[in-house]
Parts: sequence; C-alpha cells; structure tokens
Amino acid sequence: MIRIRIVLYSSSLVLNLLIITFLVSNADESDNIAIYWGQNDNEGTLTETCATENYSYVIIAFLNKFGNGTTPEINLANHCDPSSDDCTKLSTDIKNCQRKGIKVLLSIGGADGDYGLASTDDAKNVSDYLWNKFLGGNSFSRPFGDAILDGIDFDIEKSKGKQQYWVELAIFLKSHNTSTQNLYLSAAPQCPFPDGQLGATLDTVVFDYVWIQFYNNPGCDYSQRVINDLLDSWKQWTESLTTGKLFLGLPASPAAAGSGYVPADLLCEIVLPVIRMSRNYGGVMLWTTYNDKQSGYSNYIKSSLCTQQKARECGGNDCRHKGYFLGRRSSSETLYMLYVRNEIYFVIYCICNKIFMILVYQKTSGGYGL
Ligand SMILES: *[C@@H]1O[C@H](CO)[C@@H](O)[C@H](O)[C@H]1NC(C)=O
Ligand SMILES: *[C@@H]1O[C@H](CO)[C@@H](O)[C@H](O)[C@H]1NC(C)=O
Ligand SMILES: *[C@@H]1O[C@H](CO)[C@@H](O)[C@H](O)[C@H]1NC(C)=O
Ligand SMILES: *[C@@H]1O[C@H](CO)[C@@H](O)[C@H](O)[C@H]1NC(C)=O
Repeated sequence: MIRIRIVLYSSSLVLNLLIITFLVSNADESDNIAIYWGQNDNEGTLTETCATENYSYVIIAFLNKFGNGTTPEINLANHCDPSSDDCTKLSTDIKNCQRKGIKVLLSIGGADGDYGLASTDDAKNVSDYLWNKFLGGNSFSRPFGDAILDGIDFDIEKSKGKQQYWVELAIFLKSHNTSTQNLYLSAAPQCPFPDGQLGATLDTVVFDYVWIQFYNNPGCDYSQRVINDLLDSWKQWTESLTTGKLFLGLPASPAAAGSGYVPADLLCEIVLPVIRMSRNYGGVMLWTTYNDKQSGYSNYIKSSLCTQQKARECGGNDCRHKGYFLGRRSSSETLYMLYVRNEIYFVIYCICNKIFMILVYQKTSGGYGL
C-alpha cells in the first residue's frame, strides 16, 4: 500500500519554514496503543479491556504510595480492595492479557498520592518491593497473586526533596532484566521538554517505552487548537531521546483531561502521518480505559480504521471540506492545512490574512506528486 506522509516543521526564522516531505512506504504501519487502566470502576475488567484487542500495552494505575518508610499501597478505584488481598483476583486477568501478547505494566506514582524516594537505600528497598511483589521475585503475599507483570511504569508527577533517586530505582529494576526474563521500563513524562521530574532519569537510563503526556500541558498540547505546538514538542522529544520507543500520549475523550484532546480525524489525517516519520515512534498512549470505552477513540484510530474513515468521508460526491488550523507564529501569520478529498491535500500558508502559498498534492499513477 502506498501511503502519503507529510512533514511540517516550523523554525524560528523570520518566516515559518515549511518543509513537506513525501516518502513512499509499502508497509502498512499499525499503531501500537498503550492504555491506562485502574482509575474508574465502570471501565470493565482487565480481561475485557484486553479482549477488545485494541491495545498492545495495558498499564495498571497506580501504586501511589511508596518510599521513605511508607507502607506501599495500590489504588485501583473500586476494582478491588488491596487491604484484603482482594486484588489477587487480577492474577487471572493479567495472565489473560499476557496470553494475547499484551504487555501489562504497573504504574508507580500518579498525580495524587504520597510517594518519593529519600536515598539510594530507599530506592533499593522500593526496587526489592516491586521485584518481589509484582515481578519475578518471591513473597508470601503478592498483591496480584502469582501473575508476573512485564514491567514498571514511572508516572512521577510530584517531587519531594531536591534529590530524587529515580535514576537509582530504574537502575536497580533494570538489573533484573535478563534474556530469560524481560523486565520493561516505561515512563510518562509531561510534554514540556525536559520533564521536570524524570528528565535526568530519561537521560541516564534506557526506558523501553516513553509515553509523553500531551495533555494538561497547554503550550505543547493541543489546547490552543494549534497543532504546531504539539509537533514542535514531539520533534524535540524524538530528537533528544535516542533510545526506546516514544508514544504520543493523549486523552481518550475530551472529558479525560483538562486540555489536549485531539479529534480522532485530525489525529489520523495530520498528526499520525507526521509523527510516524520519527525513527523512534512507537504509537499512541491513551488516558484512560474508561474514557476510551465511552468514546471509541482507540477503535477509530487503529490504522485500518483511520484509512477507512478517510475513504468513507471523502469517497463520495458530497465530501465535506475540512480545515485544520496548524499554527500561528505571530498575529500576522497563519498556517493552515486543508484536507479536501481522499487523494488530494491542499496546504494553505497565509501571511497578513492574504493567501501566500497554496500547495496541492495529488496522487498520481506512480505515487504522490506536486
Ligand atoms: C476495539 O474495541 C471495540 C470495543 O471497545 C471493538 O468493538 C472493536 O472491534 C475493537 N477494534 C479493533 C480494531 O479491534
Ligand atoms: C522498605 O520497604 C518496605 C516495603 O517493602 C516498607 O514497609 C519499609 O517501611 C521500607 N523501609 C524503609 C526503611 O523505607
Ligand atoms: C522522608 O520522611 C521524613 C520524615 O517523615 C521527612 O522529613 C522527609 O522530608 C521525607 N523525605 C522524602 C524525600 O520524602
Ligand atoms: C531488557 O532486555 C531486553 C533484551 O533482553 C531488551 O530488549 C530490553 O530493552 C531490556 N529492558 C530494559 C528496561 O533494559
């Protein structure tokens, strides 16, 4: 299948620099989707979540109390009561997901909770706790029974003290990663680069997956309805982090976050074609399972559906013209991209409200051309 790819980069030169690159690929890329589960009672079980087959990674959220002598605690809304060993019932669910090839990770941290590391010894203590209770180690009482999780997700959003020791925790955890038993590490930094909590950790330790939160972060998320902010930030992340796979983290519905929701058609038609160009592109992360279940967002953005959507909306005669506001560098500059028909893209670049340039891309017999 031949697929169009468009890259729009802006520079801080006098004018926006618009580079449009076309690459022709014969591979039908599929986008891996990672989803957070555990913070809403009405989102279904882990088994149900994995049975949709919409996700490659399910992240259980959260272990939100740990470190500095605190007795660690998980919080999974009312999915289960951790105080009475009730969460061991998740053991079967976790194994059901893993049997489908879905990786299941435990997220530590979160926006609420009480966590922090006080020293290297503390990091070691927490690492041992995670290893013995959730991973390949042993303990008389394991919160999720004998299921062995695939890894640990760092969603560190609060800081306590100046020295953080997340690097140490990551290194201790990674020491358990062997060729016979893989232990994956992921992180969920905020989109402003570098991340205030995890910047140094991501610089020092290789994380397998980094799902960047492009929400609740006006300035780099889509809150201003300016997609360039998001693309600029994505570019900075992908060029700065050279290891691991990077995921675009998005709210699964407008209600899922205070800001940052990207309409699914905009994601399919503009954002994904651009960000897939990055060598270290891994896929899309969604917050949360509950919101996704309500909105059907993941169902829509699965790549085959993105394509079908295009064909359905623009295959007939009454194709609606759509305009996407891509960005603005100053009050007199506006950059638009208009997607018109299935095979034709119009890019309109305006200065001082006058049309400056219109580029029309059209499919030709051999591929795409100007
Ligand atoms: C995604 O999940 C929905 C249920 O939430 C299901 O109807 C749909 O078939 C799934 N899509 C794919 C591509 O698996
Ligand atoms: C070490 O971790 C355990 C949990 O495994 C916790 O109960 C204990 O308080 C921690 N010890 C210190 C000194 O932080
Ligand atoms: C650890 O706990 C002590 C005593 O409760 C407190 O003074 C200190 O600020 C805490 N440090 C961190 C990093 O949480
Ligand atoms: C663990 O090891 C596997 C290969 O054995 C590797 O692919 C993976 O990236 C490693 N994970 C971490 C967190 O180092």
